[in-house]
Order: sequence, then structure tokens, then C-alpha cells
Amino acid sequence: MDFRQTHCFDDVLLTPKYSDIKSRSEVNLSSNLSTGINLDLPVMSSPMDTVTESAMAVAMQKAGGLGIIHRYNSVGQQAELVRGAITSGAKYVAAAIGVTGDYEERACILYDAGARIICLDIAHGHHAMMKSAIKNLKKVFGDDVHIMAGNVASLEAFDDLSKWGADSIRVGIGGGSICSTRIVTGHGVPTLQSVLDCSRSVYDTKIIADGGIKTTGDVVKAIAAGADFVIVGSMLAGTNETPGAVLTNVSGEKYKEYRGMASKKAQHSWRGKSSTPEGVATTVPYKGSVKHTLQDIDGGLRSGLSYSGARTIREFQNKSTLILQSGASQLESNTHILWRNK
Ligand code: XMP
Repeated sequence: MDFRQTHCFDDVLLTPKYSDIKSRSEVNLSSNLSTGINLDLPVMSSPMDTVTESAMAVAMQKAGGLGIIHRYNSVGQQAELVRGAITSGAKYVAAAIGVTGDYEERACILYDAGARIICLDIAHGHHAMMKSAIKNLKKVFGDDVHIMAGNVASLEAFDDLSKWGADSIRVGIGGGSICSTRIVTGHGVPTLQSVLDCSRSVYDTKIIADGGIKTTGDVVKAIAAGADFVIVGSMLAGTNETPGAVLTNVSGEKYKEYRGMASKKAQHSWRGKSSTPEGVATTVPYKGSVKHTLQDIDGGLRSGLSYSGARTIREFQNKSTLILQSGASQLESNTHILWRNK
């Protein structure tokens, strides 16, 4: 057995580079998803039932990003969420579907509702059923629909999905904040490593880093590693625009639910039973409007690119240098005054 060294977001840093950027407004964060679909902010919201419905899709669009409407409801409800986002002004809306049962019919109904980006959303995307789903949808829609597929963790999987016809691929297995896939199955690859590996592909399929992005620094690192876009769940959880009520505990603190779609609780709500959960359900502090979170991500990314002296994402990916940091440097990289004197 060959053991390969792999690295996660916290293992690396970016070396600052000479910069002549005077203002963060000089930095252009736009990234092209496919012909006619350009995002001003390379960030998407997770297709999870505690993250993306109409309100989040609209807020993502306003900030320059993209919302992916989750599939854990009836097709009628999901189509209504897509229509709701488009009538409130969202230009592009992505909608998730599975690869079994009525997925093809669901895709057609979502297309009729206005979705032009369909996300084939399964936990282990390097799969025979993914192959037939991509091929079927390509036959039905041709180039009218952008097919986002995933998730995958390796270059081999990325190349196969590209060969089958995927236009963009979600890269990352088991790294999400609410995931227990690695604990339950022993499988997974650190998301940063998967992105680094997939960035070596000969295919120009777009790379979407997904799972384990906790900070704007992680967004910057994912893009440096080769991601064209990132998907975030926990960073957006707890905001007004996520589905679900704002709850208050006995101390008066407000919070909202955030749960993995393979958690026991989520499985019970969307299919009335659960088996082998691969995720957890939890709560996160209430954060107010997602606008502020998205402004922070936008600002952090602009700052990040300027530390590498880069005005565009392409320039940043060509110039940036990732370095490994030791365990001691990881401590130094954190705000250590907060724990040093404890
Ligand atoms: P973050 O770290 O942004 O991760 O909160 C969100 C991503 O996690 C994935 N996801 C899951 N993975 N079990 C898993 O193993 C689950 O129950 C689960 N739910 C979501 C998904 O890729 C999402 O974008």
C-alpha cells in the first residue's frame, strides 16, 4: 500500500507577493461558469434545506454569487422556489436533483420554472448512475442547461465526470462541517488536496471546491489551489435568508438550525426514515442578514488577491504560492492572544 501525504486548508498559507494594488476595488473577482453565465463573486450557497431556498438564491445573486436550491421537497415545491427566486429578480438560479427515480422529469419541470443550471447532487458522484444521469440530461437539454455534477474527491473521478459531459464539478468528499462520512465510512480526501489534484486535469471543466470552507482565508486558499468557485454551507448558516425559524434559548441567545442532508434528522424530514446517517444536525448562532456575511467574503477575497499582487482570479492562480505550515505555525496563524493567557 502506498501512502500519500495530503493537505487540508489549515496545513497551508499563501506567501505574500509584491503588490501595486492601491485599493481593493481594483480587484475583479468575476469567474465564468459557462457561456453567458458569469459570476461577480465566485461563491455559491449549498443545496441544503437549512441553506438555500428562494431568499438565499436572491441574496446570493445580489452579491454576485449563485444559490443552488435544494431538492429535499416535492418537485412542485422546488419549482415554486425556483420561480420565487426568478420573480424576485434572480438572474440565474441553480436547482439540485438526484440521479434516481423521477430525476429526469424533475429536471424538465425545473427547466420550465426557469432553472438553467441543474446540479446533480449526490454524495459519491464517481458512480455509474451519475454517468447515465449526465448523459440523459445532455440528450434532453443539449447546451441549454449547465450540468453541475458531484461530488468527487480525485482527479480520476473529475476526468470521468468531465468525459461524461459535466460542465462543472463539485470537488470535496467528507470535509463539510456537518459531515460524518469519513467517520462512518473511512473514505474521503481533504478538500484542498482534492482541488489541487483536480486542477491538474486536462479538461477545462469548472472546479467548485465544496466542504470545509470555514473562513474567507479558506476561500482564498481554495481558489489559489485551482478552484473556479467555492460552495459554502456553514458560513451562511444562521442568517435570515436560510430556511427555518430563528429560535431563542433560555439565556435569550438566538440561533438557527444547520444540518447535514444525510443526518438522521434531515433524512427523517425528507424521506420519513433514516439509515446509516453520514451527517449531523446542530444549531448555529443567529447572524442577521446574509448580506453582511457575503460582504465579508467579498472583502476578504479582494484583500487575499491583493496580498498576492493579483487583480484577477486567473492572475492570482498563476502567481500565488502555497506553502506548508507546521503545527506551531498554525497556532501562530490564529489570533493567539485569545487563548494564550488562559
Ligand atoms: P460546509 O463545511 O460548508 O459544508 O458546512 C457544506 C457541504 O457539505 C456537504 N454535505 C454533507 N456531507 N454528509 C456529508 O458527508 C451530509 O450530511 C452532508 N450535507 C451536506 C455538501 O457538499 C455541502 O455543500
